[in-house]
Amino acid sequence: MKRILLSPPDARPADSEAIQRAIDSGWIAPLGPEVDAFEKELALITGRDQGVALSSGTAALHLALILNDVGEGDEVLVSTLTFSATVNAIRYVGAEPVFLDSEASTWNMDPGLLEQALAEGDYAACLPVDIYGQCADYRRIEPLCSEFGVPLIEDAAEALGASLNGRPAGSFGEVAALSFNGNKIITTSGGGALVTDDQEWAERARFLATQAREPAPHYEHSEIGYNYRMSNLLAALGRSQLEDLARRVRVRREHNAAYREALGDLPGVEFMPEAPGSRATFWLTCLTIEPDGAGTNREEVRLHLEALDIESRPAWKPMHLQPVFAGCKTYGGEVSARLFTNGLCLPSGSSLTANDRDRVIEAVLSGFPES
Ligand SMILES: Cc1ncc(COP(=O)(O)O)c(C=O)c1O
Repeated sequence: MKRILLSPPDARPADSEAIQRAIDSGWIAPLGPEVDAFEKELALITGRDQGVALSSGTAALHLALILNDVGEGDEVLVSTLTFSATVNAIRYVGAEPVFLDSEASTWNMDPGLLEQALAEGDYAACLPVDIYGQCADYRRIEPLCSEFGVPLIEDAAEALGASLNGRPAGSFGEVAALSFNGNKIITTSGGGALVTDDQEWAERARFLATQAREPAPHYEHSEIGYNYRMSNLLAALGRSQLEDLARRVRVRREHNAAYREALGDLPGVEFMPEAPGSRATFWLTCLTIEPDGAGTNREEVRLHLEALDIESRPAWKPMHLQPVFAGCKTYGGEVSARLFTNGLCLPSGSSLTANDRDRVIEAVLSGFPES
């Protein structure tokens, strides 16, 4: 029986054709018409004026912090429940993360803790993450950041295609970061983008991402730059994948609904809630297994699935528990710690068939003691 993966890349013949067309056009470089078009399409889909296609989501976060003048010794408020890339970018500019715990109702940054932190400190930016494809509660986060004059950067790496009150993921704050890594909703194998409404910022991001090369016939530089631009071939792949975004979100949501239907009544099991007004992509479907009620635990179920050749994964280990960020200031921490201990992500890819999904469901059911 074939192995079922968590979230493998989903490619179609149209993707190969798009890359071939880009090669044939001769634009085999980190610039070209596919990059320009991809940037316009990304801006459109996130409700922004500007898109900047980059080599990764991490590059987008790094540039977003630079654009907001975040630097040495500054403090940045950030969700603790995330992938390390979010916080690594804060360290790239020499700033210090201050971690905020999750709220149980969305698993995202707790706006109550944000309010408390804002009242107690002085922050250069606030960086909430849209975890597992659900927007953080910007209905509360945006006004709080405006009230305290703190720039808001949205990490929408996992959330392209999601929305909150009809507003698309990527549209919140001064600037947002997207990822097209191999496991994401759309992929360029590796890649990312920054989206913003500020044309000058977009131009500056392109400039910094091109080794800060000044417009001169020779190579002129008066600032340190980065090699962060996306290749024209990968932008062609991104455009082709983006055309398929609505189907990809629909399929991931179908997986989520099927898992809830089949597993939601198991003792001790709860799924990541979808908040009212929120339309998540459910990039990954994630549930928690409370050992007291379940008679088993997350790790036993994960190993049981592994033995049946099904890849699943613990929920993100929060950053305040990571050795590399030990000692960083943290507000709360117990909610995300419990999500990590009990949380399990199930196979959720848009190429997962209904039959394979049934195999996952059967496997989870057989991992629970008979009730
Ligand atoms: C929440 C989050 N932020 C940032 C990133 C970084 O994106 P990339 O891998 O494209 O650098 C990822 C995923 O990889 C992510 O899940």
